[in-house]
Amino acid sequence: MKFIAFEGLDGSGKSTLIQGTASELKTKGQAVVTTREPGGTPLGDEIRNLLLRTTGDAPVPRAELLLYGAARAQHVDRVIRPALQEKKWVLCDRYSASSVAFQAGGRTLQRESIDWLNDFATDRLRPDLWVLLDLSAEDAFRRMQGRTLDRFEREARDFHERVRAGYRALANEEPRNWLVLDARQSAAQLQTELIDELQTRGWWP
Ligand code: TYD
Repeated sequence: MKFIAFEGLDGSGKSTLIQGTASELKTKGQAVVTTREPGGTPLGDEIRNLLLRTTGDAPVPRAELLLYGAARAQHVDRVIRPALQEKKWVLCDRYSASSVAFQAGGRTLQRESIDWLNDFATDRLRPDLWVLLDLSAEDAFRRMQGRTLDRFEREARDFHERVRAGYRALANEEPRNWLVLDARQSAAQLQTELIDELQTRGWWP
């Protein structure tokens, strides 16, 4: 059982890779929990709505960070830790790295504040592996055409470029803990690369 967090810009293909990986693991008889942030719990889903809606009072960047932190703390205690204790795989769509990429990179809040808050919210629970689906803002925008956009997806191109740069910086800080995949590849290629990595690490059942 391992905890894997998937990160990347909106439209980078996280959900497809998560679903594919979950079904591969299940065919191997593994118990798998797929979950996401913000959300994953009833309280977290309510907070998600406050964060992503495009009407009403938009949170200022510090309030935004704290709301992500609150949803994350609930998610860790109610879903992620219990699943790991039950020896289940946890595949999580976004986790604490999203706050570094979006709130520090995108919103330009101080990195130290985010690191502190992430440690507090996660109670220092870290994934065994981070998977970054790396995509340029230009490609992400192209993929999002025709979708109804949430509050983040409406941000300008340079916001998303800073988010991408934030992710790449994190992956460079700890290359051993990050698998960086070129998200322009096909879903099948991405799936193969991830399973190869898990096999190399001796984690694949
Ligand atoms: P996501 O569920 O990936 O959006 P979608 O349903 O459109 O695929 O994430 C919602 C948004 O929240 C996304 O644009 C990134 C943002 N976000 C942060 O800014 N900080 C965070 O800590 C997290 C978890 C998400």
